[in-house]
Amino acid sequence: SVPVRILGIDTSCDDTGVGIVELLPDGRVNLLANRVWSQTVHARYGGVMPELASREHVERIDEVMGDALREAGLTVTDIGAVAATSGPGLVGALLVGLMYGKGLAQALNVPFHAAHHLEGHIFAAASEAELRAPFLALVVSGGHTHLFDVPRDGEYVLVGATLDDAAGEAFDKIARLSGLGYPGGPAISEAATRGNPDAVPFKEPLQGQKTFNFSFSGLKTAALLAHRGGAAPEDLAASFQRAAVNVLVKTTTRAAHAHGRRTVVVSGGVAANTALREAFRATDLNVVFPGRGLNTDNGAMIALAGAAAIRAGRPASPLDGGATAYAP
Ligand code: KG4
Ligand code: ZN
Repeated sequence: SVPVRILGIDTSCDDTGVGIVELLPDGRVNLLANRVWSQTVHARYGGVMPELASREHVERIDEVMGDALREAGLTVTDIGAVAATSGPGLVGALLVGLMYGKGLAQALNVPFHAAHHLEGHIFAAASEAELRAPFLALVVSGGHTHLFDVPRDGEYVLVGATLDDAAGEAFDKIARLSGLGYPGGPAISEAATRGNPDAVPFKEPLQGQKTFNFSFSGLKTAALLAHRGGAAPEDLAASFQRAAVNVLVKTTTRAAHAHGRRTVVVSGGVAANTALREAFRATDLNVVFPGRGLNTDNGAMIALAGAAAIRAGRPASPLDGGATAYAP
């Protein structure tokens, strides 16, 4: 048998992502291309405008796919399977990539795989290490802070999640209130290198509890009060980042031990954070992070999830399935 080239598409929010991987007969995967068009039209609104996101996906997707094929050195007829995110996300935005992917699969007469956005984030780490169950996965992004146990390939058991804001949302909101700009994650991370983490006392939420849940709204409120009290943005960034990193690492480590897992995948936009990576590397766990450019939303992670589905022998998805805002 020969390698299967899988093209993955993600248009769940404000990034138009197309990636290509190849699945080798022995089950290994190689990343061949990863192209992302990040929409900037939303900046002036302070948040993503769904209708504008959909329109921009429509305008960009052909070009992004062409760039991905060129990066991989392939032509479209080399593609042996197509995967696209069907949810969760903004329905109008999702529909663009989903319909494009289905049309492409039908035109090429190759299998189509509908992918779950979070499975994509998890399999982004498959660019760095062969990823086979059992393992634990922390997806930590602007929309999610979810902890899954993966006892068998394709089986996801939610063991904890945020009770309020996602971690990335807290980075973004605290960066905005302290004037550090957008996107907040990189801004906080940079400012924190110049700040004193002991300057603002943050209480680490939900520690000492038996559950594996997270909470970030309290940190946000504490940051607002500290800001009004005159705390310097760098000190606020350093102090908040340390508290957020501590709760993410402590709760995930506790969950890994409770479930008897040694391997832990940490993925999603916040997984790009240097302090978070260092803290996880200092644990006794075998922590796997996505490769460069694969933390935030992209198409390669969807191609990697598609490769895992094909490798596990999962059947292709029907072409009449829809997009869903909330996917269980
Ligand atoms: O995965 P992603 O691109 O989109 C969602 O599905 O949400 O994640 C975006 C989030 C944003 O909240 C952004 O501020 C955060 O990831 N982020 C970071 C860093 N880079 C991006 N947070 C902390 N440190 C970073 N270096
Ligand atoms: Zn995402």
